[in-house]
Amino acid sequence: MDIEVITGDITKLEVDAIVNAANCGLLGGGGVDGAIHYAAGKELFEECLKLVEGLPDHRGKTGQAYLTKAGRLPCKYVIHTPGPVYRDGQHGEPELLASCYENSLRRAEEKGCASIAFPCISTGVYGYPKEDAARIAVKTVQAFSPVSLQKVVFCCFSPGDEAIYKRILNEKD
Ligand code: APR
Repeated sequence: MDIEVITGDITKLEVDAIVNAANCGLLGGGGVDGAIHYAAGKELFEECLKLVEGLPDHRGKTGQAYLTKAGRLPCKYVIHTPGPVYRDGQHGEPELLASCYENSLRRAEEKGCASIAFPCISTGVYGYPKEDAARIAVKTVQAFSPVSLQKVVFCCFSPGDEAIYKRILNEKD
């Protein structure tokens, strides 16, 4: 599985699936969630309404991943995953963040996707330290055994984030 690191707008990527750093309400918000919903249009919001209707308490769970179609986006699917809100790293945040990546990869595989792009989940509003989050992201993806997936893109939103991912990817174990 190839792993790429870029700086860019995830809503523009022509991959099979993009991952959305969502909240448990799964109906949009700010940051990359807002950008994805804005670019996808109301069709995505309607998809998400249907999604939440089928969930217990009509809400998602942190660390889980939920696949929908992609509305007007160039990709085929959006995988919505609520990341953990960072407190101090001692309240299950690392495990929950790893689950976001693992479950998103699983959802993509269930649809036979060949490519997937991730934003830097939980490192914005949810306050996860960027380096810790990037290490969890890279190690979780590297540990995954793909069937259909051939390419994973870490779509950073700043050159600084891109540099963190590239440094971690080049580390010798
Ligand atoms: N493309 C790629 N990455 C983006 C884009 C974009 N268009 N817009 C923002 N980002 C980056 C941010 O710079 C950050 O690195 O996505 C990363 C995740 O930040 P947030 O979007 O704030 O997500 P998160 O920290 O997981 O918080 C999720 O914030 O926006 C709300 O509705 C969202 O409640 C949820 C919470």
